[in-house]
Amino acid sequence: MKSLIQLKVNGDLFEIAVASNRTLLEALRYECHLTGSKQGCDMGDCGACTVLIDGVPIQACITLAMDCVGKDIVTVEGIAKHNEPHPVQIAWNNQGASQCGYCTPGFMVVAKWLFDRNPDPTEEEIKTALSGNICRCTGYTKIICAMKEAIEIMNDKQSAMK
Ligand code: FES
Ligand code: FES
Repeated sequence: MKSLIQLKVNGDLFEIAVASNRTLLEALRYECHLTGSKQGCDMGDCGACTVLIDGVPIQACITLAMDCVGKDIVTVEGIAKHNEPHPVQIAWNNQGASQCGYCTPGFMVVAKWLFDRNPDPTEEEIKTALSGNICRCTGYTKIICAMKEAIEIMNDKQSAMK
């Protein structure tokens, strides 16, 4: 049996019918049609499905949709502002930090979470923040380069505003 629930995703309200065992990841992808969050391991291990719930990175594949009613959900589709890509999205593109791209949305969501709290993290802090996300293609070097370029882009933006 399904119940009608409302989910607030990227500032928009979605009214959807879900079974009690529907995960947030399934609800996002199949009911809300937001397919940015990826279904990788589906066991909470790889981070490909990571979204922010009330500002905290959570694996959507092991979270029930019903438990997210009344919460603020941000997916990779919601990290750009005013049609302008997030600095991490620009840097990822510049650095070629995606190959298959399956892991990318999860990394970007965690990157936004990190930069919102710490706009100038050290390499160690970057590695710690991203330690829950697995990439099978890139060897991580370009991902770290993209994170560093994103910091430069944010610093340049700050300087331009002074
Ligand atoms: S798909 Fe959710 S952690 Fe891997
Ligand atoms: S780019 Fe393929 S898993 Fe990361």
